[in-house]
Amino acid sequence: MFDPAGQAHAETAFLDAHPGFRETGVVDQLRASEYGRLDARGQVYLDYTGGSLYAGSQLEEHLGLLRETVFGNPHSVNPTSSAATVLVERARAAVLRYFNAPESEYACIFTPNATGALRLVGEAFPFGPDDLFLATFDNHNSVNGIREFARAKGARTAYVPLEAPDLRVADSLLERYLDETARGGHNLFAYPLQSNFSGVKHPLDWIASARERGWDVIVDAAAFVPTSRLDLSVWKPDFVSISFYKMFGYPTGIGALIARRPALERLRRPWFSGGTVIAANVQGEMVVPLSGHALFEDGTVNYLGIPAIEIGLRHIERIGIDTISQRVEGLGTWLLEALQGLRHSNGSPATRIYGPTTWERRGGTIAFNFLHPDGRAVDERFVDVVAAAHGISVRTGCFCNSGAGETAFSLSKDTLIGAEFNEGMILDDYIRLVGMPTGGAVRVSLGLVTNFADVHRFMRFATEFLDVTEAPDDLPPRLAC
Ligand SMILES: Cc1ncc(COP(=O)(O)O)c(C=O)c1O
Repeated sequence: MFDPAGQAHAETAFLDAHPGFRETGVVDQLRASEYGRLDARGQVYLDYTGGSLYAGSQLEEHLGLLRETVFGNPHSVNPTSSAATVLVERARAAVLRYFNAPESEYACIFTPNATGALRLVGEAFPFGPDDLFLATFDNHNSVNGIREFARAKGARTAYVPLEAPDLRVADSLLERYLDETARGGHNLFAYPLQSNFSGVKHPLDWIASARERGWDVIVDAAAFVPTSRLDLSVWKPDFVSISFYKMFGYPTGIGALIARRPALERLRRPWFSGGTVIAANVQGEMVVPLSGHALFEDGTVNYLGIPAIEIGLRHIERIGIDTISQRVEGLGTWLLEALQGLRHSNGSPATRIYGPTTWERRGGTIAFNFLHPDGRAVDERFVDVVAAAHGISVRTGCFCNSGAGETAFSLSKDTLIGAEFNEGMILDDYIRLVGMPTGGAVRVSLGLVTNFADVHRFMRFATEFLDVTEAPDDLPPRLAC
């Protein structure tokens, strides 16, 4: 049982149980030198799946570069333009190198974020009638949105369900869905390498299983790569979506689509724009598109921000992604156990975890609800209020992952099809209509510079919900998911 008073004692016991954790001490040093603002402000940051945190030195190096150099729009050959081009191309090469993706095989396209990468694939994928867009229930809505492009072109869409309570997909079930491919068609299978809801790591070897059956595979790696190694010389997805701020915090507004060149060539862009053409005219309505990454980068790329990607990747490489993984595993294991050990005085559990309850094939994102002593879920808005008072940043709600939420909260197809979101309703009305126990879960996510004090302080905060029989009745309305 968690002892709120005994942080030093708990930390010693933790280190004894996880001897490898001591080897990750470099992160504790960095936390003090580069992320001192967290502790100076008394903040406990546990929303790394929302976005990671940047080191002070990333900002300094980037700002130094901007201060000392003159950069112009890269769509030119003048000296300032060339200076920008050199750094954009260096960053592109650095991204491919980081993921061990041979340049002959993969292209890196800069996008505004992971969503932008997913949209590029969705809108240009050559779906036709009888083709299939297949996705796991567990997906961010930015992947779910691809189904609208598929449907508009007459393709079918299908979802592979998750199994509660672990919120995984059974391999045998997935294989049945994958076997359905119409031969020779353009079929796309999409899944997240790590769930932004439950933290489940879905198997990387699905990539080969699907591709062998003729599928193009897009893996959404946005929640996976911040704390796990992705080696594209081993795993060969057709498309990978990422957001860099989720890896190293700065800058926001830049992501990437990493794409296998043959798969990229199969895409058919629905339009052209400045930056994507060799030539175009108006009178003949002629257009000659560029190829490779250039065909997919509309307009001017974020040429002042992109050099910061190379700086961020170097920062992660200096720490080592395996060190980050090891750290998150140790702290995550402790937190999972502590949360599940939390009991009200009547002996009833004070939490319910959604997803795996042990550290097996999962990452550092934990979704759960606090429970009242009678077993009802504590309103997640109340959790927000108490967390804010403790200086704790966590996420609450459905995390833009509709399918994982539907499975976690046992919402059936019949319930959802019968419940229309009518005009004039707000999200709260809909939640009542479908019978959800509360508006969503609480999500704690660990990352780059999480330390033992963070998770211990979180558990101290968690004890505030012990023996609480009711949430206040003046919580703000829920307006959006
Ligand atoms: C798994 C996953 N995919 C996609 C996204 C979308 O990322 P962005 O909002 O940066 O486009 C997120 C964001 O939380 C995510 O966790």
